[in-house]
Amino acid sequence: MFSKKSVRLAGFVFIKSRLKWPIPVIKYPNDCQCAVLKRSHSSWTGHKQQTHSEGKSRGVHIYSVRHVSSSTLDPAEVRKFQVLATKWWDIQGECAPLHAMNELRVPFIRDNLLTVHGGGKLGRPLAGLRILDVGCGGGLLTEPLGRMGAEVLGIDPVEVSVRTAEMHSSLDPALRERVRYRACTMEELTEEEGNEEAFDAIVASEVLEHLADLDTFVHCCYRMLKPGGSLFVTSISRTQLSYILGIVMAEQVLRIIPRGTHEWDKFISPVELETLLESSGISVQSVRGMLYNPLSRCWSWQQSTAVNYALHAIKQKEEQPHQTPAED
Ligand SMILES: C[S@@+](CC[C@H](N)C(=O)[O-])C[C@H]1O[C@@H](n2cnc3c(N)ncnc32)[C@H](O)[C@@H]1O
Repeated sequence: MFSKKSVRLAGFVFIKSRLKWPIPVIKYPNDCQCAVLKRSHSSWTGHKQQTHSEGKSRGVHIYSVRHVSSSTLDPAEVRKFQVLATKWWDIQGECAPLHAMNELRVPFIRDNLLTVHGGGKLGRPLAGLRILDVGCGGGLLTEPLGRMGAEVLGIDPVEVSVRTAEMHSSLDPALRERVRYRACTMEELTEEEGNEEAFDAIVASEVLEHLADLDTFVHCCYRMLKPGGSLFVTSISRTQLSYILGIVMAEQVLRIIPRGTHEWDKFISPVELETLLESSGISVQSVRGMLYNPLSRCWSWQQSTAVNYALHAIKQKEEQPHQTPAED
């Protein structure tokens, strides 16, 4: 009925009508190697590190403890997720890509934790570990971590998401003892007594791109992780390809996720994240690229980290000061 040419033309006009031009140009701060990247009004600026006043004293690395004064909370992001709050467990709906991502992220977290901590009990490989799932939403990742035997605390600033998560996990008796949820932010949790160096692992999956202040996020991770504890992040890189695939295709053309879910300015590349983490005493162990195929609705590991990626980092253990041999 239609010629191939007219179908192609219609497709082009359809896509073009949904594209936001121009495709953003990436600007990195000049001193990217030594700068900590801080988000201000949804753009990135380079500034010298202020959060952890890093110092060296007699061979001991000191990342000084300060009280958390900034907030990771962006009220506009909270409003976005309030709308989504009852849809977390609709596996065909807007959260389908997050459900599908469990195929990669759950084994990524499990295998790296097993490498660091050794094997747990049969069938419960993460038994004995305390995990904090930051920005847990409806508990899509929190639950499988609990099922593997970990004691998991899921936190999210959107109260109605936390209620959804609680209700869903209460349906599984195996999770009741192991999974807890709270409506709060990282910075509130960090200031509470008993949370200093309390967690074997912190997970922030698809969360960094929604935070107002990454510097505060990393600082809180540092304080709440045990020395040698693991940080797991999945996020979206800030590249032109991620703009085309992550925003134009996913939100505007294919409408896999709601329009306006992501702001490209808030994406962070693994290199930028590594710079930030390393300067804060959290050392990156591995980074793997990921890609979502909207036709098969599956994720796969990729060589390239230009769009989505998973990262594993470890909080450095403080070096012991060198003992000077006692003089005779
Ligand atoms: C894309 S969802 C990811 C949910 C969950 N991690 C998953 O992968 O299934 C992002 C989540 O981050 C939460 N969020 C937004 N701002 C946050 C903040 N400042 N601190 C912690 N979580 C936040 C949102 O409420 C939302 O639940």
